[in-house]
Amino acid sequence: MSTFVFYLPFLLNLFIVTAADTPAYTPTDHILLNCGTSLNSTLDGRNWMGDNLNKFSPNNLANISSAATATEQHPSVTQVPYLTARIIHSQFSYNFPVSPGKKFLRLYFYPVSYTGGFNKTESFFTVTANNYTLLSNFSAFLAVSAEKPPVAYLVKEFIINIVQDNHFLNVIFLPSSNSYAFVNGIEVVSTPDNLYMGTHDLNNNPLKFVNNLNNLFEFDENKTAFETLYRLNVGGNDVSVKDDTGMFREWRLDDSFLSGGDIGNPLSNDTMIVEYTSQTPNYTAPAIVYTTARAMGKYSDKFNLTWIFSVDSGFLYLLRLHFCEMMPYLINSPNQRVFTIFINNRTAEPQADVILWTGGSGIPIFRDFVVLVPNPTGGRPAKQDLFLALHPAKDANPVYLDAILNGLEIFKLNSSDGSLAGTNPEVVLDPPSPAVNPGSNKKKSGGRSGIHFAVIGGVVGGVAVILILLGFVISRRRRGWKDFDNNSTNTKSSWAPLSTRSRSTRTSASAEKGEGGGRLPFSSLFVMVGTTTEDDTDNEFSESSEEAEAEAALLKSNSLTTSTATSRS
Ligand SMILES: *[C@@H]1O[C@H](CO)[C@@H](O)[C@H](O)[C@H]1NC(C)=O
Ligand SMILES: *[C@@H]1O[C@H](CO)[C@@H](O)[C@H](O)[C@H]1NC(C)=O
Ligand SMILES: *[C@@H]1O[C@H](CO)[C@@H](O)[C@H](O)[C@H]1NC(C)=O
Ligand SMILES: *[C@@H]1O[C@H](CO)[C@@H](O)[C@H](O)[C@H]1NC(C)=O
Ligand SMILES: *[C@@H]1O[C@H](CO)[C@@H](O)[C@H](O)[C@H]1NC(C)=O
Ligand SMILES: *[C@@H]1O[C@H](CO)[C@@H](O)[C@H](O)[C@H]1NC(C)=O
Ligand SMILES: *[C@@H]1O[C@H](CO)[C@@H](O)[C@H](O)[C@H]1NC(C)=O
Ligand SMILES: *[C@@H]1O[C@H](CO)[C@@H](O)[C@H](O)[C@H]1NC(C)=O
Ligand SMILES: *[C@@H]1O[C@H](CO)[C@@H](O)[C@H](O)[C@H]1NC(C)=O
Ligand SMILES: *[C@@H]1O[C@H](CO)[C@@H](O)[C@H](O)[C@H]1NC(C)=O
Ligand SMILES: *[C@@H]1O[C@H](CO)[C@@H](O)[C@H](O)[C@H]1NC(C)=O
Repeated sequence: MSTFVFYLPFLLNLFIVTAADTPAYTPTDHILLNCGTSLNSTLDGRNWMGDNLNKFSPNNLANISSAATATEQHPSVTQVPYLTARIIHSQFSYNFPVSPGKKFLRLYFYPVSYTGGFNKTESFFTVTANNYTLLSNFSAFLAVSAEKPPVAYLVKEFIINIVQDNHFLNVIFLPSSNSYAFVNGIEVVSTPDNLYMGTHDLNNNPLKFVNNLNNLFEFDENKTAFETLYRLNVGGNDVSVKDDTGMFREWRLDDSFLSGGDIGNPLSNDTMIVEYTSQTPNYTAPAIVYTTARAMGKYSDKFNLTWIFSVDSGFLYLLRLHFCEMMPYLINSPNQRVFTIFINNRTAEPQADVILWTGGSGIPIFRDFVVLVPNPTGGRPAKQDLFLALHPAKDANPVYLDAILNGLEIFKLNSSDGSLAGTNPEVVLDPPSPAVNPGSNKKKSGGRSGIHFAVIGGVVGGVAVILILLGFVISRRRRGWKDFDNNSTNTKSSWAPLSTRSRSTRTSASAEKGEGGGRLPFSSLFVMVGTTTEDDTDNEFSESSEEAEAEAALLKSNSLTTSTATSRS
């Protein structure tokens, strides 16, 4: 079961809210239902309505369901909406009056045992919404148990189109036989109509079908439902639902999906103003997605920058890749950073050139690809790995051998019979391995920032090296709560930085020319990034003294490896 896991809720209110600006998009419909209670509650500034005696719930609610309370509360779990649940004994239908158009439907599940003797291992159920099968014989317990690292709760997110003459979203829960269904919370949020569907044509983001690049992919957007599987702020940090553009999407960091030891380098540019366009309107993704990215760095021609995702076989998937160049002093015209995009080992885009697509640095764009992940031949449907890989496109003779990715969303498309449901994961139930507070295990500590040697390709005609160095600004990378000390008793004040050291930089350069033909050896300039502590009080961002981890922007742009094959003069 592919699972889109939201990690944050209980931490959200601890965040210092920085962006109080009006979001780029205001949903026409926004419904938050806290199931299994009659009380209204507020979480994170949003009002959750109790589902008892509520206009969305059926009249015979008391006959076919009961309200129950979780028998345990994991520290990562907020009371709202997770502490109470609607336990459903026979077919149960929530009916949400909504305007026509595309809606997010989010279902919140906290699979523990509930008061009244409801055993978490015994719940299997089907969920449909306006005739789409979203989940089938679904076990939330098995789904969270299969997550690595294990999580305590999960949110399933779907996008469903409400057709023109229909003004309802009808969500039906049906327990499997001798079983019960449950749900902790339900959220309905409208989306801009052309955000995820209807943005493709030949000139504007043609929808490529990776399995057969000769054909563009076509589907009836008004009849197709999506399930969001992954939404990542690549090379950046988690973006909480409050910091989204008004649709309450969570963007997660990408670290745990990177494959192998070669994970490239995170980039960021805190001062860049993202220039949204009509093709990429300001609600597409929050600016932070576009001001952070992952590039390849050292040895870029030796490896693929690869992410791996677990998906159900037998479905089509839409991958939306978000791009934005952010180093105008190095990359500002076409053919400077050109790369190949591979999806499931096939070439999806032979020569991706973000500047060519956008016309300049700081301008965001996305590209969509559809890939079919077939069932194993002769086999049963199963979980499979979906690969996304980037590699410099040497054929194009770009100035730099590098690649960049800022954000990624992966959606499952409903099958031709209208189903999005996969099979339950086969979980080997070990002796209980406690779900971990996601905040503390999002990544291997230190892993991502463990780049201590950095390289600059000194292409820009010898002189530029110094200019480049001057151009670097110290910038904070928010470590946030994700690596905070697990043992700390103060875990909830999780904004505490993980590493209070900052980095000083010193350079030892040897500007040698590479032999012709290939790229410059990165010995053109080595920048050693030390780990000594350094006072950074002049860091304009150091509103928190603990938040002292300043990373020289060197780390961000260190990554470019030059291709001597191209001369810019
Ligand atoms: C988003 O773009 C719209 C249309 O261009 C504009 O009216 C709105 O003010 C923008 N919102 C933000 C928060 O930038
Ligand atoms: C809960 O909130 C809804 C909508 O804001 C309101 O109609 C309802 O009366 C409230 N219920 C209670 C018990 O406060
Ligand atoms: C609920 O069940 C009771 C007793 O079985 C019955 O009298 C009542 O009509 C039912 N209510 C609804 C709304 O179906
Ligand atoms: C729940 O069911 C499982 C499997 O049937 C059983 O092993 C376990 O003891 C039950 N737990 C409780 C609390 O009844
Ligand atoms: C679901 O399917 C039934 C039967 O085909 C149809 O009558 C109904 O209008 C459909 N509902 C929606 C919301 O599409
Ligand atoms: C989808 O629905 C929209 C709004 O009703 C409509 O304008 C559009 O033509 C429809 N597209 C197709 C392919 O039917
Ligand atoms: C960030 O972007 C701004 C404007 O787009 C540019 O002037 C600046 O040099 C960039 N800084 C870094 C560190 O890349
Ligand atoms: C892609 O290549 C990797 C590594 O060679 C392999 O493990 C994987 O099975 C391949 N995936 C597909 C879908 O062919
Ligand atoms: C990158 O991935 C592609 C597609 O799977 C593969 O053909 C190529 O050999 C890989 N390159 C490296 C350096 O691993
Ligand atoms: C999704 O299901 C509907 C039937 O409900 C079907 O018409 C549509 O073609 C399906 N979408 C895809 C991509 O198969
Ligand atoms: C439901 O899923 C469970 C666990 O995967 C499986 O054992 C059971 O046979 C399934 N039931 C049906 C009706 O498919």
